[in-house]
Amino acid sequence: MAKNICVIGVGYVGLATAIGLADFGNYVIAIDIDQSKIQQLQNGNMIIYEPGLQELLTRNTSANRLKFTNSLKDALDNSEVVFIAVGTPENGNGDGNVDIQYVENAVNDVIQNSNSYKVLVIKSTVPVGYNRKVNERIKKANRDMDVVSNPEFLREGKAVYDFFHPDRVVIGTDSEKAKEIMRDVYRTLNRINVPFLWTDWESAELIKYASNGFLAIKIAYINQLACLAEQIGADIISIAKGMGMDGRIGPKFLHAGPGYGGSCFPKDTKALSAIAHQFGVPITIIDAVIEANKKQKMRIVERLKKRMPNISGKTIGILGLAFKAETDDIRESPAIDIVDELLKLGAIVKVHDPQAMHNFKEKYEDKVSYCNNEYEVSKDADALLILTEWNEYRSLDLRRIKSAMKSPYIFDTRNVLDRDELNELGFSFDLIGQKTMEA
Ligand code: UDX
Repeated sequence: MAKNICVIGVGYVGLATAIGLADFGNYVIAIDIDQSKIQQLQNGNMIIYEPGLQELLTRNTSANRLKFTNSLKDALDNSEVVFIAVGTPENGNGDGNVDIQYVENAVNDVIQNSNSYKVLVIKSTVPVGYNRKVNERIKKANRDMDVVSNPEFLREGKAVYDFFHPDRVVIGTDSEKAKEIMRDVYRTLNRINVPFLWTDWESAELIKYASNGFLAIKIAYINQLACLAEQIGADIISIAKGMGMDGRIGPKFLHAGPGYGGSCFPKDTKALSAIAHQFGVPITIIDAVIEANKKQKMRIVERLKKRMPNISGKTIGILGLAFKAETDDIRESPAIDIVDELLKLGAIVKVHDPQAMHNFKEKYEDKVSYCNNEYEVSKDADALLILTEWNEYRSLDLRRIKSAMKSPYIFDTRNVLDRDELNELGFSFDLIGQKTMEA
């Protein structure tokens, strides 16, 4: 039956979780320390770009299954299940460990302000062993509470789809009572036979890191194969296709590009590496992936410099700033490393992105110029770089682009353009994972 749920944290994960759980028929109260976010959500306005989430927000708030509050007490007094979905950013000192102060604060708040039984669900990505530590604290504080590790597998830009069609729900706990309650929370998924994995806390925590780590390995591997293909004259698209036809490999996450970004892969690979080192069993493959990904971003600039050795004073147009399509998020985006390097080399940089420009502007201010569309970027440009696979860039009017550019050179790092068309129109071009010039 419907559960009364509190969700702490309305970021990319917390908001999708709060809205999704309400849409399952639960009664959800969401809270955040950022009052302006709560205010905007109370006014019915989305605070992030996530396709499909606005409609669900409207539907569930008007059905009175979802509300937003500033009062923790109000939220906890009316909830039996408390999801913690606050951020766990890198701690900034480069050792790969995450900053868990926000989770700690939320856990303390719940322990201090709960006056009845609670299932405390840690959805934030936390270091392995953290759930057990929280459980020990709760028992020591003699609180009537069970701890559940319920890692998220939501992709930005596809969070709605992923929430309603997960490949699996992973739940780590030592409490039968909590298990039954979590079955109720996710009964809608139960009904459509989504697989549930019931396991212990540490395994649930590690499944999250291990899954993201493996996906990052796939990407780093295909990117290094792309570099080899460029030298050999092979075609990485065909290679990825041929690999993916093997059911044990699968076609997904084999798209060569400028390197992975986002708020998860970079952070989770470093955290996994740190955890393994702390336990004295380094996962050297992950260490190599972290290095390879850093290099891949710089290889884009190196390949550009082969075309134009002296970048100083040249006008470079950048199409795509978000770390991937269908998001406005620029965290760890390859565009950041690449634009930094181009500015260091003295280039004049013009940028466009359908969704992420406001975030880029916060970081770069007037160091680059912001264009209203992809054609403005190409005006008087010596080179055009496609860094994000937005659909808008798949159907560029290349004639119009060419006539606007100072010199018609395009470097497509996502293979969204058609090689034959570029040839016919007389562009010089580079495509990731494909040989385009004599070495
Ligand atoms: C990821 C995981 O997919 C998700 O399960 C987890 O919960 C959070 O982290 P996300 O970071 O939102 O999701 O994006 P994802 O679609 O996984 O892409 C991550 C990065 O890899 C992006 O920079 C993307 O451009 C890159 N990528 C992805 C590739 O370069 N090639 C691919 O084939 C796939």
